[in-house]
Amino acid sequence: MQYHYIAGQTPLDEEEKRDLIPSLVTREDLDAFEQENILEARKWVMQKSVLSKLDIFSEKFLLNLHKRMYGHVWKWAGTFRKTNKNIGVDKIYLATELHTLLGDAQYWLEHKTYPISNLAVIFHHRLVKIHLFPNGNGRHARMVADVIVAKFGGDKLSWGGNSDLTKPDDIRTRYIAALREADGGNYEPLLEFAKS
Ligand SMILES: Nc1ncnc2c1ncn2[C@@H]1O[C@H](COP(=O)(O)OP(=O)(O)O)[C@@H](O)[C@H]1O
Ligand SMILES: [Mg+2]
Repeated sequence: MQYHYIAGQTPLDEEEKRDLIPSLVTREDLDAFEQENILEARKWVMQKSVLSKLDIFSEKFLLNLHKRMYGHVWKWAGTFRKTNKNIGVDKIYLATELHTLLGDAQYWLEHKTYPISNLAVIFHHRLVKIHLFPNGNGRHARMVADVIVAKFGGDKLSWGGNSDLTKPDDIRTRYIAALREADGGNYEPLLEFAKS
């Protein structure tokens, strides 16, 4: 299969590619297969009975959600990446950086530092910036933000009208530009994007 990468994506290395579970032929097949798996995960996580028991700001939940989103497609679903990428912290800091973020999020929640939807967007950016997984980080971190809002009662996020954001179109360009602004500490464009 030919892999083509668009701006703001993390290429897979050869070993990661070998861990593809289904025997897919084209990139379109792969996208569709992932999409189906992701929808199944969303259905699971958004159930009231599941949401009410979730400990969102925990390593266990974040890994489990990734496994639910991509477990039919990739063997490494739900596990930390073992290689460095063009985005994200050095792989040796994944666990510690994540735990710092989880502590920050608990604090923001307890002290009502931000409105819930802002907390969700800031958490989203910090999570993709760490980049826990070989692939699927963007879609995972957007679902995590949606779950935060659903659980804690924030304004629903619309992600520029489409939370898929995997196509190289104008919406994605805006999204990536907004993330870069957030990398520099300015969250306004990303907040505006996620709510538009
Ligand atoms: N400059 C950046 N700062 C923070 N996050 C970024 C930046 N550029 C890209 N990203 C994030 O990385 C994601 C791409 O990583 P990837 O693992 O391929 O996710 P996916 O497969 O879900 O698209 C983008 O969707 C975006 O969320
Ligand atoms: Mg990707």
